[in-house]
Amino acid sequence: NTAKMILNKDYVVGEVDKRIYGSFIEHLGRAVYGGIFEPNHPAAGKTGFRRDVAEMVKELQVPIIRYPGGNFVSGYNWEDGVGPVDKRPKRTELSWAAIETNAVGTNEFCTWAKEAGADIMMAVNLGTRGADAARNLVEYCNHPEGTYWSDLRKLHGYAKPHNIKTWCLGNEMDGPWQIGAKTAQEYGRLACETAKMMKWVDPEIELVACGSSGSGMPTFGQWEATVLENTYEHVDYISLHTYYGNADNDIKNFLARTLDMDAFIKAVAATCDYVKAKKHSKKKIKLSFDEWNVWFHSNEEDRKIERWSVAPRQLEDVYTFEDALVVGGMLITLLKNADRVKIACLAQLVNVIAPIMTENGGSAWRQTIFYPYLHASVFGRGTVLNSIIKSPKYDSRDFTDVPCIDAVAVVSEDNKEITIFAVNKDTEEDITLDIELNGFGTFGVTKHIILESSDIKASNTKENPNNVVPSDNGNASVEDGNVKASIKSLSWNVIRLR
Ligand code: AHR
Repeated sequence: NTAKMILNKDYVVGEVDKRIYGSFIEHLGRAVYGGIFEPNHPAAGKTGFRRDVAEMVKELQVPIIRYPGGNFVSGYNWEDGVGPVDKRPKRTELSWAAIETNAVGTNEFCTWAKEAGADIMMAVNLGTRGADAARNLVEYCNHPEGTYWSDLRKLHGYAKPHNIKTWCLGNEMDGPWQIGAKTAQEYGRLACETAKMMKWVDPEIELVACGSSGSGMPTFGQWEATVLENTYEHVDYISLHTYYGNADNDIKNFLARTLDMDAFIKAVAATCDYVKAKKHSKKKIKLSFDEWNVWFHSNEEDRKIERWSVAPRQLEDVYTFEDALVVGGMLITLLKNADRVKIACLAQLVNVIAPIMTENGGSAWRQTIFYPYLHASVFGRGTVLNSIIKSPKYDSRDFTDVPCIDAVAVVSEDNKEITIFAVNKDTEEDITLDIELNGFGTFGVTKHIILESSDIKASNTKENPNNVVPSDNGNASVEDGNVKASIKSLSWNVIRLR
């Protein structure tokens, strides 16, 4: 079984915006409380944040983190989370039926993100609040001093502005589950007026309008068109969200879902360009895939959660090896669309559908999905090549002609390295991948990392955190000027050339 990948130095898709390796922390479950923040933990620093967790975030080189939601943001009063901690109100949090203590808010999170080396993508509440609260938050975060909100920030102990550059205009406003959900027309008008005011406060910021919560939403397509018709000249990105699951245990179909993700991206890009044409605009709207992941393992458990508890175990998916393959495929899909997708956030980062898990008072460990995310974030920066791939194909329940080899190549920022990411979706056969490189001069294989497992349902747990870990055991080598590698059945591969 063989597949061929043809690369040419001059055939490129586009530059990788490092923000496609972003992630997401929501005030949900144990993401904040008991995740990144646990003042009584032995690894906690002076500010109450766990250093061991921050170290793992740094290892991932997460460039930007979306905050504070998610569904949470649509009921959030940001003012509750600033100022003296003992004066902050406890609130019923309606989207996840929990109690929010507000012990962590904007300033604490900004301090933590800085320590973890990440910028922030801040979401404003367009569910229960609106333009006024949003423009005040921009002033609080970004205005240097001498105004009510900036001076209040200084009074709260933060002399320097946080300078947050990327902002989300609400979250999933099309979803009936959203606090204060809206029709496309209602949201489009509100987003437009909010965008104008936020940019008047700080013209340097960039704004993300809410697209659909998923391509399966009944209003998908029309939602994007209406929202952009209302906001086009005032926003910079439109959002996409998707989660995949394998509840029916059909691995072939599960792995093929990346085709759905690719079609979703293409459809949203086309809708943006339709509005561009209608408006005779020169501006191109970029895509922010600001929620994506596998999510389904915890659904059953989550139905049993007691209402109104603080930081319950919620959305704590324990990821398997096969989930890591899907996450790898999704990363490849994002890279293949690097010309249009400029921001993407793996949802989420700690404990809640996350690559990093923690035990309260105990250890932190890396889930299976940590590894493809790590490899792409660390080695997948530079220029994406437009590769031609000829691969054996298969059909699954919902997809036809699914290429067994899903792969993409990235030339590093210094032009010295090429990294090929590849997944073999064939459930039985190893496939020999023959990579033809044109115009690159001479090179050798420096590493062929593989993530593989004899058990597709294997996972990493507190007791066995290193059950699924990558190795350097790949056999890629240069033969007659081409790279040849055995891409094992159901494996994630990172082939590095120099
Ligand atoms: O990431 C979990 C939830 O998924 C987010 O709060 C919401 O935006 C989406 O539905």
